[in-house]
Amino acid sequence: MAARTCLAIVLAAGEGTRMRSARPKVLHPIAGRSLLAHVLDAIGETGVTATAVVIGPGEAAVAAEVKRLSPNAECFIQHERRGTAHAVLAARSPIERHPDDILIVYGDTPLIRPASLLRLRNATADGASAAVLGFRAANPSGYGRLIVSDGELIAIREDADANTTERAAPLCNGGTMALAGKTALTILDRIGNHNRKHEFYLTDAIEIARSMSLRAVAIEVEEDEMRGINTKKQLAEAEAVAQQRLRQAALDAGVTLIAPETVFLSADTKFGRDVVVEPFVVFGEKVTVEDGAVIHSFSHLAGAHVGKGVSVGPFARLRPGTRLGEGARIGNFVEVKETVVEAGAKANHLTYLGDASIGANANIGAGTITCNYDGAAKHRTEIGRDAFIGSNSALVAPVRIGDGAYVGSGSVITQDVPDDALALGRSRQVIKQGWATRLRGLKALGKKNRSR
Ligand code: UD1
Ligand code: MG
Repeated sequence: MAARTCLAIVLAAGEGTRMRSARPKVLHPIAGRSLLAHVLDAIGETGVTATAVVIGPGEAAVAAEVKRLSPNAECFIQHERRGTAHAVLAARSPIERHPDDILIVYGDTPLIRPASLLRLRNATADGASAAVLGFRAANPSGYGRLIVSDGELIAIREDADANTTERAAPLCNGGTMALAGKTALTILDRIGNHNRKHEFYLTDAIEIARSMSLRAVAIEVEEDEMRGINTKKQLAEAEAVAQQRLRQAALDAGVTLIAPETVFLSADTKFGRDVVVEPFVVFGEKVTVEDGAVIHSFSHLAGAHVGKGVSVGPFARLRPGTRLGEGARIGNFVEVKETVVEAGAKANHLTYLGDASIGANANIGAGTITCNYDGAAKHRTEIGRDAFIGSNSALVAPVRIGDGAYVGSGSVITQDVPDDALALGRSRQVIKQGWATRLRGLKALGKKNRSR
């Protein structure tokens, strides 16, 4: 199999109007990545040797996403929406290179599993000229029906064109198909548009193959894999399926999810061993959590690396560029952004650490703020190892607090603090002995005068 060449064609020319959105349909995300990213990932795991993505005119954003995700994939523009076979032929030039297999996948079907795509490829390797994924639909209306006889797929009939017997066929067409490369172009070029919608239907490929004495097969998969997304409701349903899969994979890998249904993951979230995630935690893109870390409830993480044995939250927010070293502690109502927190350092309460580096074992007191923004530019705060920042301090960047230095509580620090020094940036305390007694005496006198 590895030696066989395979061209994947992703149909992604969008109308997308039912999403009620300015964003092209295939760029909407589930589990933190675009629908298109999920499809390209699945394809990437099936050993394809070339990828073509068919997009509509004026869909530069989709082309940009393709470039970002698969720099070697080629985009082709289908200038008019004239049906799925017409869309496939927009990628005529790579088809003409006669790969062994051609996989055709819809860009709005993100839950497709690589294993199912491999089953399609195996079918063409075994001599079928076409293989199609089918499923038992809870509600078949709108789907093409797979007409199977004696184990062979003999036709796909579109819902609008089907008779009553055909409509009762148990398997629906998922739309994902493999064609043997040597006969693909001959078949595709014979497809006409003599149907109710006057579209060039890819599904007609089956009857044409049969008329050429070629073999076609149907392969059954779960309905979830074939969910196509046209509406925000379907997007939310697909998100639920994707989350279900990611939670299951995390549990299988040994992560403790106390209430899995309340934890939201990204497709790229990575966990080490013996990680505990408490209820109600959200993982955005690009988060890695190392062995033995605990993520407490109501925390939100994105673009963060959480080191071994770290404790995060409850109610913590880790933003992109956060790196927490071994055994660090980030407590409640602490926000961290573009900041490296070295091993053993702690910020346990009510703190903002932005554009900073925090040395090993430093202690950041409650209410500390790195003032990183002056209204025009961002500046860095450096805090040395073993430093101690007293509570309610404002560190006005750019500024450096030396190794082992102390900052007194309530300070506003605007100048660098040398190693092992104490910095106090607040007004000196004043004591007025007996002041309260005198005040009370004056008040009592005033009352007596008024009551006269
Ligand atoms: C198609 C199948 C139907 C199947 C269903 C599964 C055909 C004729 N019908 O119907 O059997 O049950 O999918 O969801 O193939 N596209 C283009 N250019 C076009 C037309 C479509 O790129 O001119 C792309 C769309 O962006 C989409 C995919 O092809 O990703 C499917 O098109 P769609 O219009 O949704 O086909 P269905 O009517 O759902
Ligand atoms: Mg559709």
